[in-house]
Order: sequence, then structure tokens, then C-alpha cells
Amino acid sequence: MSNPSILILPGDGIGPEVMAQVRRIIDWYGTKRGLVFDVSEDLVGGAAYDAHGTPLTDATMAKAQEVDAVLLGAVGGPKYDVLDFSVKPERGLLRLRKEMDLFANLRPAQCFDALADFSSLKRDVVAGLDIMIVRELTSGIYFGEPRGIIEEGNERVGINTQRYTESEIDRVARSAFELAMRRDKKLCSMEKANVMESGVLWREVVTEVGKDYPEVALSHMYADAGAMQLTRWPKQFDVIVTDNLFGDMLSDLAAMLTGSLGMLPSASLGLPMANGRPKALYEPVHGSAPDIAGQGKANPIACILSFAMALRYSFDAGEEADRLEASIETVLAEGKRTPDLLGEEGVEPVTTEGMGDAILAALDASL
Ligand code: IPM
Ligand code: MG
Repeated sequence: MSNPSILILPGDGIGPEVMAQVRRIIDWYGTKRGLVFDVSEDLVGGAAYDAHGTPLTDATMAKAQEVDAVLLGAVGGPKYDVLDFSVKPERGLLRLRKEMDLFANLRPAQCFDALADFSSLKRDVVAGLDIMIVRELTSGIYFGEPRGIIEEGNERVGINTQRYTESEIDRVARSAFELAMRRDKKLCSMEKANVMESGVLWREVVTEVGKDYPEVALSHMYADAGAMQLTRWPKQFDVIVTDNLFGDMLSDLAAMLTGSLGMLPSASLGLPMANGRPKALYEPVHGSAPDIAGQGKANPIACILSFAMALRYSFDAGEEADRLEASIETVLAEGKRTPDLLGEEGVEPVTTEGMGDAILAALDASL
């Protein structure tokens, strides 16, 4: 049997430097754990635009469809703000999500004990926090038609359409229920059924799917109230399922509860391929952070934790994912901090590579 394959798309800004640390971790698994991957690398976002005039070439798209998992760094940067909408770096990422049909976006928000004081909320509100947001990723207002900017009378009108089919809601709801079954068996669905028909349908379909999961305690919340509850007492939640746009916002909110965006991974999963593995793309929740790019200041942990999710969800190596996550906890408990995590006085920051070194050392020590 051939080795499992990974396509690495470092992207823009801090993407390449955090991904360099992920490559070291991937190599470690090859030499120390006999988990050898066929790794290839390609361009996405502004980097692809600079080289090819498009944020994602057809050839890269085709490669992404073939591999067992795609690992993506980050896309975008101020340099590309002037570009036409159709070739903006973000379009590359959105095309990958859409054409790979990655409908279930898993965004865990976990608070590492060593970092609980970095949260803007009180320690007891966030310590031990472990929630999972499942965001619908291939439909809703991000992709709905009609869309565009049109002329109407003597002014322009900007149009986007929120649109969900029953089957689109059904499949993401099932993913969320399945996850809830493996966690605390609690699922909260968020929409705006009070003002949006798509929200009414969302609630109905999720409730219907829930009949197949009688063990899961299902609740519903309006998304605005959900945002409030997430900041008030986030530990009331286990799994949250929501649409594309609300999920975009609620996951940033949840991420910040944990103290640092630089810590959070994500997995975007689609239907199973012929080999039984789901179509999958893994990426950190943070962006390309152009202001600190190339200075060795970026925190590689979110990207490394994204690889841990790949081990768990694509490569059936949950124990190895546990090992990697535990190594990161160790390193944080030892006081290793990239500049985004500085707070305590007298702590010297480590560089992006220094954090990679520390995690590799902790992995070695775990053997
Ligand atoms: C995210 C990002 C993307 C989104 C952008 C970069 C297109 O904010 O992954 O949350 O809006 O989905
Ligand atoms: Mg976002």
C-alpha cells in the first residue's frame, strides 16, 4: 500500500513559516513512529496570484482532490486588497472548500490551562473550556445566488443571498450529532429563526435529525443570544452547530475566549473518498498576520494542532494526535511562549522555530 498523501499549501504572510514547523513534525512521525507521508507542496492565495495570476490554479485544485489531506497555512495580505474580488487570495480558499465539498468545518475552542490568564474573561469562566463549533462551510450567504453589485435607478445595490437546502442542513447536522456522541452528548444549534426563513428550516431539519440521536441533548438558540451566552458562561456548551456566516463569527468569538487565536486549529471535512477517508482540509483559525510575517514571531501551534486533527480525522491515528497535543501542553507548562502569548514579566519569548524545537523535544521525551 502506498503512503498516505498530504498536500501542503503554505499560502501567504506567516503561512510559510508556521508550515515549516509542521513539516518538521510530519518528518518526526516518519522517522520516529513509522508514519510516513507522501508530502507535496504548492501555492495558494496571494502567493499563487503572484506566480500564476490566480489564487488557485486548476492543477493545484486537481491535486487537492487527489490527496488524503490538504494542510493550509493562511491566505491574504494588504498587498492584495486592490485586486478584483474574483482573484483575491480568499477566493482560492473558498474554491477549495466548495469544490472539495467540505461542508463540515470543525473548530474546537479549547483553553490550555497554562494560558487561562490570557483570556479577556476571568480564569474560572474559561479554565478547562473545551467546545467544538461545527460550521456549515459550503453554502449559505457565502455562496448563495443571486449575488453581486447591481445598478438600480441612480444607485448601486449590494446583494448576497442566504440559502440552505434541507439536505445541506441534514448532512452538517449529522456530523455535529456524531461528534456530540463522541463527546458530552450535548448539541446546541444556532440560527435566527425569529427573522430568517432559512433559520426556521434549519431548526426544523436539525430537530428531525435529532430523532436519530436520542442520546444527544439538543437545544436551540438564536445566534445573537448564542454569542452572548458564549461570553457569559461558555462551559454550558459542548458542540455547537451553525451556518456558514454565524459560524464564521461565533468561531472567532469562541477562539478569543481561549486567550489566543494563535492556538486554534480547524478541520474541514467532506464526504468519504474511495479509500474511506473523508475529503479533508486542515488549517489554523488565525489569518496570515502580514504585520509580523517573516520575523520569527508567529505562533506555529495552531497549524501544528491542525496536523494533529489530520492524524485523528484522516489518518486514524488518534493516539498519535493525543501525543502531539500532550507535547504541546508540556511545552506550554514549561513556560515556552511565542510573543503572542507573553504576559508574565521576565519571560523571554521563543521564536517560531524555537517553539518547533521545543515541541520536537517534548515529542522525543514522550517515547
Ligand atoms: C475563516 C476566514 C475565511 C472565512 C476567509 C479568509 C475567507 O475568516 O476561515 O473563518 O470567512 O470563512
Ligand atoms: Mg473567519
